[in-house]
Amino acid sequence: MAKKRFWTDPKESQDALAAWEWTEKEGKTREEGYNYFLSLGKGRGQSYATRSHGSWRGRISTLLRRPELVNDLEESDLDEIIRGLLLKEPQTLESLSTIVDRSKVSVRSALERLKAVGFEIRLDEEAAVMDTSLRPTEWRIDLTPYYGESLKFGLISCTHFGSQWRQLKELQTFYKICEREKARLVLHAGDLIDGVNMYTGQRFGLYAHGSDAQADDVVQNYPKSNIPTLVLGGNHDFSFQKSSGENVVRRICGKRDDLEYVGMQSATFFLPGSDLEANLIHKRGGVPYARSYAAQVIVRNMPPDKMKPILGVGGLHVNDYLYYQDQDIFTIPCFQGQTPYLKAKGLFPEVGGWIIEVFLADDGKIHRRRFELITFETAIGPVEKEI
Ligand SMILES: [Fe+2]
Repeated sequence: MAKKRFWTDPKESQDALAAWEWTEKEGKTREEGYNYFLSLGKGRGQSYATRSHGSWRGRISTLLRRPELVNDLEESDLDEIIRGLLLKEPQTLESLSTIVDRSKVSVRSALERLKAVGFEIRLDEEAAVMDTSLRPTEWRIDLTPYYGESLKFGLISCTHFGSQWRQLKELQTFYKICEREKARLVLHAGDLIDGVNMYTGQRFGLYAHGSDAQADDVVQNYPKSNIPTLVLGGNHDFSFQKSSGENVVRRICGKRDDLEYVGMQSATFFLPGSDLEANLIHKRGGVPYARSYAAQVIVRNMPPDKMKPILGVGGLHVNDYLYYQDQDIFTIPCFQGQTPYLKAKGLFPEVGGWIIEVFLADDGKIHRRRFELITFETAIGPVEKEI
């Protein structure tokens, strides 16, 4: 448990600094400086929490580095300190309260503020944990609101906002086609943004650096449509959560009414009027040599009760369709050109998406499906300039 204490009484901080300046100016010893500091407190009728000469010195060092702490902690400072503490290890509300010198109610408010801006904090009555581990979510999403005689939906993946190879115009065109075709929703299978530290040199191919810039870019520039998009997080989206606990997809979807967060790495959708379900999975690992291989491995290793009639696999940046073991399996292309990383590996991505229509028969199964593969030219060089 962290023991470090943050002093938040502004008078105590001011007196600590004043005593330090006096010590320096008058050429006094540090012990004399500390005693002078205590005498300032006594002059105010206060007994300060700084109990030793050593902790007074430590406090001076902190205040010289972060002079804003002389004044009482702002909410944003408090949130930042709590976030930093949680990143190191789980904390009880009691210990957080002691460390930051605030009531448990204030600590809980700070934790709720952090959650509201997308930090993955698990919070119960007594403790808080920052979740930075990549685990597929087991969310089940009801598609009833989107179902008519049949369900027609777009299926896309890997838009990689932030990457100079992002192909935004093609994504905009894809949405226009979905609108013309009267698709009822779009499923996004992950890698909404390009993220951070995915491979050596990735940062040199970004036009937007950091979670704020990439999130703002999606909020402002992701195609605005009357068709809602359900967004799954991929491994690139997860990169910020891994380093800071921040779930950027959740945060982005909180700012756009037409985007809805449906979990990280995997989600299950159920269709109305039957027990028919669809799986959406984000597979990491880049463009495969044998394009159906990744999907086949997923199916082969899937427990029978997890198999669904429709499987969408994102993250591979190529297209493929396979009817295999009673499943319609769609491998989903991307909206990102050939990055230097892919070029060095001799891999070539495909740009575009699927529009799929499935019909439920009286027996509650799919016997008919129509699908269309929309393709665009793959960009070879950068599309976006660094900003
Ligand atoms: Fe991707």
